[in-house]
Amino acid sequence: MSHRDFQALGGMRTVANFKQHVASVGLDIPCDEQLESGPRAPLATRLEFDGLTVGNRFCIHPMEGWDGTSDGKPTEATIRRWRNFGLSGAKLIWGGEAVAVRHDGRANPNQLLATEQNKSGLAELRETLLSAHREIAERTDDLLIGLQLTHSGRFSRPNQKTVPEPRILYHHPTLDRKVNIDDSYPVLSDGEIRQIIDDFVVAAKIAEDIGYEFVDIKHCHGYLGHEFLSAHLREGEFGGSLENRTRFLREVVNGIRSVAPRLKIGVRLSAFDLVAFRPDPEKTNGHKMGPGIPESYSEQLPYRWGFGVNSSEPERYDLSETRELLKIFRALDIKLVNITAGSPYYNPHIQRPALYPPSDGYQPPEDPLIGVARQMEATRELKREFNDLIFVGTAYTYLQEFLPFVAQAAVRQNWVDVIGLGRMVLSYPELPLDVLSGAVLKHKRICRTFSDCTTGPRNGLPSGCYPLDRFYRDSEMGVQLKRIKFERR
Ligand SMILES: Cc1cc2nc3c(=O)[nH]c(=O)nc-3n(C[C@H](O)[C@H](O)[C@H](O)COP(=O)(O)O)c2cc1C
Repeated sequence: MSHRDFQALGGMRTVANFKQHVASVGLDIPCDEQLESGPRAPLATRLEFDGLTVGNRFCIHPMEGWDGTSDGKPTEATIRRWRNFGLSGAKLIWGGEAVAVRHDGRANPNQLLATEQNKSGLAELRETLLSAHREIAERTDDLLIGLQLTHSGRFSRPNQKTVPEPRILYHHPTLDRKVNIDDSYPVLSDGEIRQIIDDFVVAAKIAEDIGYEFVDIKHCHGYLGHEFLSAHLREGEFGGSLENRTRFLREVVNGIRSVAPRLKIGVRLSAFDLVAFRPDPEKTNGHKMGPGIPESYSEQLPYRWGFGVNSSEPERYDLSETRELLKIFRALDIKLVNITAGSPYYNPHIQRPALYPPSDGYQPPEDPLIGVARQMEATRELKREFNDLIFVGTAYTYLQEFLPFVAQAAVRQNWVDVIGLGRMVLSYPELPLDVLSGAVLKHKRICRTFSDCTTGPRNGLPSGCYPLDRFYRDSEMGVQLKRIKFERR
């Protein structure tokens, strides 16, 4: 399969056509016929909780740029991205981007680092975003800005872009191979985990000191926080029972509460996962990759290496433990939950549905709309049961022109509280503002999911929207990316 096998949404002219297409694929995606604007519009409705206000229903997801300095400070490109987040009009900024709490937990040598030395850089990002927002909005007291804190765990590459230096919690039958390790590779000890917990707490205190209103204790996409949740086979205090697998989260939260009691805490969560995928070798020819197929798991049943995976049919998700986890969030007074799924490293079609794959991915194994519907449906199920929590939804970018229509229906029907925007905000930052003001969408700025924002970093370049943002397209980086893509044809 390739992009040619699926009907591209870009060519669909009307909402009616889109709805017809959704029905023909057999999916349940809510979609309004007309967009509302003005203060009463569903997407303009404010959200109030715990004395805080979020002025509308758009959120900017964390979007890393692989463009910090080697010691983890923002550069001009980082500041430009955060400025665009502020200009977007979205009133919830979920973390800005993944910021590592210590050097060995950086996903790449250009990831930002939350240390005392980098405090002023992280403060500048927030202030830049805030002042950009002031340029386009009447008020800023309804803008909620958090910082995403992470340790990249298995996917750490702190020193060289091409050299994995995994920090793992357990051995994984397929993912160990992806990061070039074998059974003799050491797992993090409980003592080392406790040091990482301390680093999260220190980083959260830094975030509070410089004015961030919340921190996200990242539990998604295969990074360390997420790996804890699937550490079924780990021994000791951090593995086995769900209680043990959530000890990391609980200790981080308790630590933060003791040093930064005013700081709110959120969690970005891969609510479900599936097995790892790879390009079908039978249909791969040189750089022409085949469609994704699941890595073989027949020897691994019942499947014990994922969170939110159906253990007897691991190509399907299962939210039973996710529900238990949300009860733990409730008990910890964590109200802000950003639902995502899977990982960009081993099943990107689950995590960020796209028509065109990144260079380390595979051709879409399914219509990308199915990926959108899967995340929407899981979020809907969880929202239905945990209506007191605030849910941000993910994977809307692939909807393209129809994103606002689906977003409005999803919020109106209480499938989700806030619509998160990822890739779309790289190509078209002011989309929320245009939707809320009733302006005509700028079609030429709409992300068509070419995945260059991922192919760039996978080949040592910063991330950004290479097809549509001149800052990247017309730069030396743009020329390099074109060359890389040409050589892979
Ligand atoms: C270039 C790029 C950088 C990303 N950086 C982060 C990140 O730092 N933290 C995170 O949680 N997710 C990150 N993501 C995932 C997005 O936040 C989002 O979940 C994903 O793009 C799907 O949403 P979308 O369909 O709106 O793009 C990144 C995605 C891309 C494409």
